[in-house]
Amino acid sequence: MPDPSSGAVAATTLVTAATAPARGDLASAVTTIADGAVAWEDGEITYVGAADGLPHAERFEGCTIAPGFVDCHTHLPFAGWRADEFEARLAGISYRELHGEGGIYRSARMLAEASDDEVIGFSLPLVREMADHGTTTLELKTGYGLSIEGELRQARLARRLAEEAPQTCTVTLLACHAVPHGVKRRDWVRAVCEVLIPAAAEEGLADAVDVYVEDIAFSVEDLAAVAEAASAEGLPMRCHADQLGASGAAEAAVALGAHSADHLNHVSSEGIRALGGSDGTVAVLLPTSTLMLRASPPDVRALIDGGAVVAIATDFNPGTSPVLSMPEAIATACSLYGLTPPEALVAATGNAATALGLAASRGTLAPGRPADLVVLDGDAFRQVPYRPGHNPVRHAFANGRRVGGA
Ligand code: NIG
Ligand code: FE
Repeated sequence: MPDPSSGAVAATTLVTAATAPARGDLASAVTTIADGAVAWEDGEITYVGAADGLPHAERFEGCTIAPGFVDCHTHLPFAGWRADEFEARLAGISYRELHGEGGIYRSARMLAEASDDEVIGFSLPLVREMADHGTTTLELKTGYGLSIEGELRQARLARRLAEEAPQTCTVTLLACHAVPHGVKRRDWVRAVCEVLIPAAAEEGLADAVDVYVEDIAFSVEDLAAVAEAASAEGLPMRCHADQLGASGAAEAAVALGAHSADHLNHVSSEGIRALGGSDGTVAVLLPTSTLMLRASPPDVRALIDGGAVVAIATDFNPGTSPVLSMPEAIATACSLYGLTPPEALVAATGNAATALGLAASRGTLAPGRPADLVVLDGDAFRQVPYRPGHNPVRHAFANGRRVGGA
């Protein structure tokens, strides 16, 4: 019987980010091999190079081999949709206005009302659909718990989802997502720092901690307090930064050594400078969330030219981005944010792995690394952003096993 975690594929083109993180001239960070091939054994890559060197590889004519996509920002697990809010926004009601009783609070109610099995039953097919769209590594988050027990429960559900998912998953504790009703903001931040983060760390439930910095949510001072508590537990920080308005969150995230500052629609020139000069803070772009909110894009060219390490993710959630497809996020990044296809490739693979602290293992194709790769329609990567709405993923392999494809 053939080993399900070994294989070899060849295609018209092979592309990969050569190193991660990459900044500046991202196109020069892409390695392209015409008539390229990959082989792997026991889930680990053993060969990347010319197809000539692998005569027995399965051949995909007119196709492109690339690293599996790394979706470094999602809000799974959740338990229900909010399509009526989308329609309300189209009618002119803002995300801020919906935030009162709807939005995050509504997803929190739906999560609380669902049993554990119902949450997994809702979320697991979505994670599998992500595999069909080429995502081989993804982030899961809390943020719909809105109480100490609720957040711990969502983090445990995220760990359970990670175990059942065919891909590699990390878990981020986004306890500061919305201020729970009836609780003062500073009391919630204190409880998160003194009780929740230590409890989650002791149970091994979190790989990182995130804060939503916004006028309707938390402040940069709250971010600093949470960063101190996270650092005491050895957990890296991330930040929802400058999404609906400018708050100085991006530059604060850089100053605190966060692994990422995400959204950035309203990032200031100081924030762009800080991200450009930062060693370890990835600028995570979430273009489908911008599209669905009909918001204005950040100055992505200034970020790239300024030296920021840019990544692309879906922000998959029932409110601002019900989009789970990385090819769709890549297409939107190119058409709405002006990334070139090679920039988008690097941003959706190696640089995205950097935001998750996984650059050493995920996001690039090289011998010795886990065999996370996709076989895409089209003889060049440019075909992916060129055809939004088409799923270009013929095969997705995670740790060498086929996990999905159209
Ligand atoms: O990243 N804006 C904050 N959080 C999410 C949306 C969450 C929701 O609306 O449920 C975001 O866009
Ligand atoms: Fe988000």
